[in-house]
Amino acid sequence: MLVSLIAAMTPDLVIGKEDGGIPWNLPRDKQHFRDYTAGKWVLSGRTTYEEMSGWFQDRVPIILTRNPRYETESPAHRVAGTVSDAISLAKNNGAEELVVLGGSSVFEAAIPHARRLVITVVNKDYPGEVRFPDYREFYQWKTVHREFWQQDEENECDMTLKILDLE
Ligand SMILES: NC(=O)c1ccc[n+]([C@@H]2O[C@H](COP(=O)([O-])OP(=O)(O)OC[C@H]3O[C@@H](n4cnc5c(N)ncnc54)[C@H](OP(=O)(O)O)[C@@H]3O)[C@@H](O)[C@H]2O)c1
Repeated sequence: MLVSLIAAMTPDLVIGKEDGGIPWNLPRDKQHFRDYTAGKWVLSGRTTYEEMSGWFQDRVPIILTRNPRYETESPAHRVAGTVSDAISLAKNNGAEELVVLGGSSVFEAAIPHARRLVITVVNKDYPGEVRFPDYREFYQWKTVHREFWQQDEENECDMTLKILDLE
């Protein structure tokens, strides 16, 4: 089973704000995020899961939490205490891919298990304190797909989608 990480980040690896939320609104990237995760098993940190409340139709979310009694918003949603347990749960249920949605601490814990990174680089220096791990420290990544999305009326800056696979 493939483990992938999906994230949007500035060139400085900023993915979010300390008080919660993402410092941009880019519908083009949201559409890509919806398309890539549709029908898949996804792994989310408890904070990100609560921020994305109501969003998970047509995906099977596993929520990473240290609270074994955590109550999910739907009985169909699953809970895991470690990334390894989440991977086993998805694999044992026949998943072909587990897509890790973040946030920061979950990306840190999951990146040693990942063979694919699906990264949108937003081409503007938005301020934020929450960062993606410096993935270049973890093995060698090869770009297998690159797509440029130009700023337009709905999207306030250019973006580059990069899909990187482990070499
Ligand atoms: N730009 C992007 O692509 C993107 C993607 C996702 C999130 N974000 C942003 O990132 C921020 C949230 O990130 P975050 O790091 O603060 O929170 P998070 O990773 O979503 O959730 C943190 C929580 O997840 C659980 N957890 C994390 N690591 C764990 C581990 N190794 N084992 C067991 N449980 C673990 C803990 O839950 P318990 O406290 O319940 O134990 C922890 O408090 C927000 O600003 C969000 O908008 C951005």
